[in-house]
Amino acid sequence: MSDKFRSAVLRGLARRPRRIPCRFLYDRRGAELFDEICGLDEYYPTRTECALLARHSSEVAMLLERRRPRLVEFGGCTPAKARYLLETTRPRAYLPIDICREALANYASELSRERPGLAVLPIHADFMRPFDLPPGDGPVLGFFPGSTIGNMPPEQAIRFLARVRHQLGRDGAMLIGVDTKKAHERLYAAYNDARGVTSAFILNLVERINRELDGDLDLRNFAHSALYNAGRGRMELHIVSRRRQVVHVAGRAYRFGCGESIHAEDSHKYSMEEFQALARRAGFRPIAVWCDAERLFSLHFLQPAS
Ligand code: TRP
Repeated sequence: MSDKFRSAVLRGLARRPRRIPCRFLYDRRGAELFDEICGLDEYYPTRTECALLARHSSEVAMLLERRRPRLVEFGGCTPAKARYLLETTRPRAYLPIDICREALANYASELSRERPGLAVLPIHADFMRPFDLPPGDGPVLGFFPGSTIGNMPPEQAIRFLARVRHQLGRDGAMLIGVDTKKAHERLYAAYNDARGVTSAFILNLVERINRELDGDLDLRNFAHSALYNAGRGRMELHIVSRRRQVVHVAGRAYRFGCGESIHAEDSHKYSMEEFQALARRAGFRPIAVWCDAERLFSLHFLQPAS
């Protein structure tokens, strides 16, 4: 991993705009901070999605016609969310995929202890790249919570979904959590929390560069910035240089102007109709969509169109 991290960081710092892929936010510390984000008052997506799952998981089981699926979770370290589907769909096997090896191993062993009857088959992989699912029986139910799909640009999300559709096979299905467009203030607050946890999460990338790549970036000289780009319908998260400075990473020097940034992540927001249109372009048929009364978050059930 460190090798991949190294080449991504060196490449990302050399290009303009500077950009480091967001999956590198999730080392062990990053995964912990992200967990903390999920519990913040301002961060409505997690609790809203959980409520939607609590309310509609039994409908998911019905849409599968009670066939017991193999439940494949993309970014599979969200126990609170998977539990609802484990209860209602009673999967033959549960296959969480995650890039963070520690989080995945902890989660899998915790879950096996808790549910001795359940076959838990963790897959350590970057789900943005092709990977193999072990063979098995039953339709595959892909579960992609947390609006992680929004962290891809739309064109990439379409390519990703098209690839996943092939992996699922004809009788598979996808359940995807998607954050919706809403008042900008609400979006802004979700990524600029009062306690600064989101800032710590983003700036952990700087610390990770120092820890793993022998960097000398001074944390006091960088700040987190999260702004809504209404034209593109997305939150844009940056690590901003607060002054002119030269930093070193793995023996190389990088010059930053004041206000120059490293782009860390985008989080695209979709109305329910927009996301259904996107899913269609990836070869899916939208079968059902659920949302809360305030329309803060949506849960889409999709099946391959043919
Ligand atoms: N999928 C989450 C989202 O886009 C990821 C996320 C939440 C996130 N908070 C963040 C990513 C803060 C970067 C910074 O909402």
